[in-house]
This record gives sequence, structure tokens and C-alpha cells, in this order.
Amino acid sequence: MAPGQTTPFTVAFITGAAQGIGREIALRLADEGFNVAINDIPSNADALHSVAKEVEAKGRKALPLFGDVSEEDTVRVMVEKAVEVLGRLDVMIANAAIAIISEIVDLDVEKFDRALAVNVRGVMLCYKYAARQMIKQGNGGRILGAASILGKRGGPMAAAYVASKFAVRGLTQCLAIELAPHHITVNTYAPGVILTPMTAMGALDEAKGGGHGAATKWVCGLPPDGPAAGPEVVASLVSYLVKPEAYFITGQSLTVDGGVVFN
Ligand SMILES: NC(=O)c1ccc[n+]([C@@H]2O[C@H](COP(=O)([O-])OP(=O)(O)OC[C@H]3O[C@@H](n4cnc5c(N)ncnc54)[C@H](O)[C@@H]3O)[C@@H](O)[C@H]2O)c1
Repeated sequence: MAPGQTTPFTVAFITGAAQGIGREIALRLADEGFNVAINDIPSNADALHSVAKEVEAKGRKALPLFGDVSEEDTVRVMVEKAVEVLGRLDVMIANAAIAIISEIVDLDVEKFDRALAVNVRGVMLCYKYAARQMIKQGNGGRILGAASILGKRGGPMAAAYVASKFAVRGLTQCLAIELAPHHITVNTYAPGVILTPMTAMGALDEAKGGGHGAATKWVCGLPPDGPAAGPEVVASLVSYLVKPEAYFITGQSLTVDGGVVFN
């Protein structure tokens, strides 16, 4: 057990869990004994229900929660529901985000605002309500947000996304300081190119050399044969960061990218 912790961590909440990295994290944490509240938007309901079935097949509880993380009441109610049904909240993974592809000269204000609403306000709200609950429990906890290597350096056609991921790192550092007295760590994972629905860009991939991830690699300054991996590389980092033994890591944005960006 970590300092400040008297009972094991058993309940995790993962946003954007119907597919990609969020889904993989939910399954990995279920493998490790966690009951999970899993969130996604209503249009992804079928996929989220299948993730819930996969979690239950592992012998763990799954609570699907539908809603947009950019809405304060929605996040508050989802966290309350998770605590009511699963009994507590030990781990928050603020994973949901959207990618906007546009050069700044063409960047639509509504799209820019939407990226910041989902990727920054959504993370802030998950941080806020998870932190309140974990402070109340008095047993420490683990809070993680999804950053990116595009939260460490810019790239073409990615200004809205890059701005949002830099902001996630800032939020994370501030909350890490605020929650240190409560033995709650706050970190981000900062992936490079991970092969998920977000990085399957069809015609844009073709235009940048072909294959899933080619356009994302180009945005990250990589050639079409540059490093890419499946979401399991992120899930395994998360699996470590939520363990009691990771109590001494906080305020960090941990890069998992095959060696593209060095901190
Ligand atoms: N795939 C990559 O290469 C990569 C690299 C760096 C960082 N990331 C980050 O990792 C996280 C997961 O990425 P992914 O590749 O799995 O993306 P993805 O698009 O495959 O999955 C994201 C999920 O979030 C959900 N979502 C979107 N808006 C939402 C909202 N308002 N409320 C609730 N859910 C919402 C989507 O429906 C989807 O299921 C994101 O924060 C992303 O920015 C991904």
C-alpha cells in the first residue's frame, strides 16, 4: 500500500472507453482486478456495451455511462453514479478527446472551441469531480489525463489539438501540486502514434504515404515507416501508474512513443 492509503484501489473510471486507447485501458485494468465505470458519447453506445461485456467476461463489474465530458452536470452525475453503483472511486482516466485537422489560417472558431471544450474542459471536469470524491474518501488515489507528444511540440494542421494537449499538461501539474497533501497522484500519458480509430484517416493517410497512421506520423514529423504501436503500449504504462508503488510519480507527462520525443 502507498503512503496515505489504507485500502486497495478497486474502482476506475475511464472516459472515451468505447474504442482505442480508452477501451484497452478499461480491459487492462479489469484484468488487474478493477471494477470499471466506462464512459462514451451516446452515438458510440453499441461499442461501449461490447466493452462492458468484455469486462464482465473477465469477472469484473462494468458500468457503462453515456455522456459528453465537456458538460459539467454530466460529468458530476456520472461520477456520482459510479460511486453509488461501484462503491468508491480510486482511479480516474480522463482519456476522451477529439482531433481537429486544420491549418490555423483556415481554422474555424467553432471547431477550435469544440476541441478545447472536449479535450481541456472535459479533462478539467473529470479532474475536479474525481478529486472531490478522492479527497472525501481519504485513501489517496490516481488521476490520469490523456496528453500526447503533440502536447510537447507542435505539428502542422494540428493547432487546436496541440493547444489542448499542452493545456492538459498544465492542468495536470497544477492538480498534482494541489492534491499532493491528499496522497493523490496526477499524471498524463503522452503517446506518439497509436493505431486507433482516431489515427485512421483514410484519404489523408493515403496522401501522406499510405497506411493507418501515415497522416498522424506526418503531423508528428515522422516518415510513413516511423514508429507506431497498438493501444496496449499505453495501457501497460497506465497499469503501472495506477499501482500503489507508483505513489512517488506525480505531475508528469510520460511519453510512450517509440523514441520520437525526448523530454
Ligand atoms: N491514437 C493516438 O495516436 C494518440 C496519440 C496521442 C494521444 N492520444 C490521446 O489518447 C486519447 C485516446 O485516443 P484514441 O486514439 O483512443 O482516440 P479514439 O478517437 O479512437 O477514441 C476516443 C473516444 O473518445 C470518445 N469521445 C469523443 N468525444 C467525447 C466526449 N465529448 N465525451 C465522451 N467521450 C468522447 C469517442 O467517442 C471515442 O470513443 C485521446 O485523448 C487522444 O487525444 C491518442
